[in-house]
Amino acid sequence: MILILSGGVHADSTNKMLALHVEQLCKKQNTPAEFIELASFDIPLLNPANKDLSSPTQDVVKLREKFEKATGFYITTPEYNGGITPVLSNALNSVFNFVYFPKNTMDPIINKPALTGSASPSIYGATKACSILNSQLLHMGAILCPFSVSLSKSHEMFDQDGKLSNPEAEKRLKQGVETLINLAAR
Ligand SMILES: Cc1cc2nc3c(=O)[nH]c(=O)nc-3n(C[C@H](O)[C@H](O)[C@H](O)COP(=O)(O)O)c2cc1C
Repeated sequence: MILILSGGVHADSTNKMLALHVEQLCKKQNTPAEFIELASFDIPLLNPANKDLSSPTQDVVKLREKFEKATGFYITTPEYNGGITPVLSNALNSVFNFVYFPKNTMDPIINKPALTGSASPSIYGATKACSILNSQLLHMGAILCPFSVSLSKSHEMFDQDGKLSNPEAEKRLKQGVETLINLAAR
């Protein structure tokens, strides 16, 4: 199962549209995939000074279980001030946390393939955020797909039904998904 996350969580997030599109691409390849709406999970802001949060919420445990079951990941993010979004950062740091999960902290991600992406209305496609995401996932032990898929001018890349309408972007995304599926099947 490919676990799919978007660091953009608002209703018309183009990263979320990309994530939902990748979910469909996986299914078309007969590969089970699940998009997780991070905003619907109770993931409190990780704050070691808050003694009420010395153990994970049920949703953090549930999200970690989804990482455990997954054979690979697609994660796409908007860029906030040159980095990944706080929602995505908080989710990753809550799930991969040696205080909450002291035993085998990194097991659910280590040696599993990850395809990353980003999307931004700017001409730069949030590539800085994508690089930072790559760096973090690598640090955590994931195997990165050889290329990421970043979308510039993302607000122009979808039609009125929210479908990806740019052939080049579609081609690149399909290549990435195929690579991810092949790596996940090994
Ligand atoms: C706090 C904040 C910082 C931002 N910083 C950047 C940035 O560094 N680079 C960029 O391309 N867009 C930046 N943006 C604009 C986002 O790319 C845009 O709002 C949007 O999140 C794009 O992704 P989405 O369609 O998935 O929401 C920023 C937005 C916010 C709210």
